[in-house]
Amino acid sequence: MAEARAYPGNWKKDHVAIRSGPQYNRIMYGQKLVNGQGQFITKIPIPVTRRLVLRGQKEFDIFCTPCHGFNGMGNGTVNQYVNKLRAAGSPDAGSWVQPSDLTGPGVKFMPDGGIYNVITNGIAVMAAYKDQVPVVDRWAIVAYVRALQLSQKKVAVGRLPQSVRSRLK
Ligand code: HEC
Repeated sequence: MAEARAYPGNWKKDHVAIRSGPQYNRIMYGQKLVNGQGQFITKIPIPVTRRLVLRGQKEFDIFCTPCHGFNGMGNGTVNQYVNKLRAAGSPDAGSWVQPSDLTGPGVKFMPDGGIYNVITNGIAVMAAYKDQVPVVDRWAIVAYVRALQLSQKKVAVGRLPQSVRSRLK
């Protein structure tokens, strides 16, 4: 069944569960994006489970990697293609803007609600994805962007296990 593939595991059930009661209100509160003081909410308003992050990875890979790349650093295939066009002096490169590095300080220090807002409404030259990515999946993507940032975190060599250290140059 096509639908079963689109929603692996119990994902569909989660969606249904989330569509009811206080949890739904929390998500909708998140959609308004602001707390009582009119600032972006700082935390994803639904439980960040392993399944949510994996869901986020899947959605990120579909909707964000063409521009931001699989590592989120802004050099997806579209960007690589435009760079090739530019290098060849082609006018087709147009006014393409390099997509942001999602693991850099700009997005790292953006509140969760701020990243959610970019996915929902777009920003500058980046288009909005609210019509393509449902609310829960947007939060899932935010969770995965945080995971990508953590994966880029520098760790002091001395804190790595010997087995890993011995393989470093
Ligand atoms: C068609 C290309 C494209 C796609 C697809 C795309 N983005 Fe972007 N994104 C950009 C560009 C270009 C910018 C820089 C906008 C600017 O500064 O003008 C950007 C900026 C951002 C920023 C803001 C960074 C900052 O420093 O303010 C975030 C966050 C972001 N994108 C997340 C995402 C996520 C998450 C997805 C997937 C749902 C996504 N983008 C899909 C092109 C894209």
